[in-house]
Amino acid sequence: MIVFASRTGNVRYIVSKLQAELVEVADDLTLDKPYLLITYTDGFGSIPAKVSAFLDRNAALCKGVVVSGNTNFGNTAYGAAGDKIAEAYNVPLIRKIDVRGNSTDYEAIQNYYEKSVIM
Ligand SMILES: Cc1cc2nc3c(=O)[nH]c(=O)nc-3n(C[C@H](O)[C@H](O)[C@H](O)COP(=O)(O)O)c2cc1C
Repeated sequence: MIVFASRTGNVRYIVSKLQAELVEVADDLTLDKPYLLITYTDGFGSIPAKVSAFLDRNAALCKGVVVSGNTNFGNTAYGAAGDKIAEAYNVPLIRKIDVRGNSTDYEAIQNYYEKSVIM
C-alpha cells in the first residue's frame, strides 16, 4: 500500500505513475499493514500537519518515506519534510523528488515498494 498526501497535485501525479494500492492521508485513517508514505514539503521545509497527525498514529507500519519538494526553496528546505520524518519517526528516507520528478524516480519508487513494502 502507498499512502500519500498532496495539496497542489504533484504527489497525486507521482502516485498515478505507480502500480500499487493507493490511499490518501485523511484525519481518521488508521492502517493495519505496511505502507510507503509519499508526501509534499510544507513551508520552511516542514512536515504537513496532517501528515504528522497521521504518522503519530501509524508510524509503526511505515516502511519508508518519499518526499516531493522544490529545489527553488534552497538546499536546507528542499524536501526537508522527508529528512524530518526520517528522524522523528525513525523511517528510511527513500528519495527526494523535485516537484513531479521523472520516470527514473517512478522506477526507483516502484522497485523499493516491491522489494521492501509488499511482503
Ligand atoms: C506554501 C508552500 C510552501 C512550500 N515550502 C516548501 C519547502 O519549504 N521546501 C520544499 O522543498 N518545497 C516546498 N514547497 C513545494 C512543494 O513541496 C512541492 O511543490 C510539492 O511538489 C507539492 O506537492 P503537491 O502538489 O502534491 O502538494 C512549498 C509549496 C508551497 C505551496
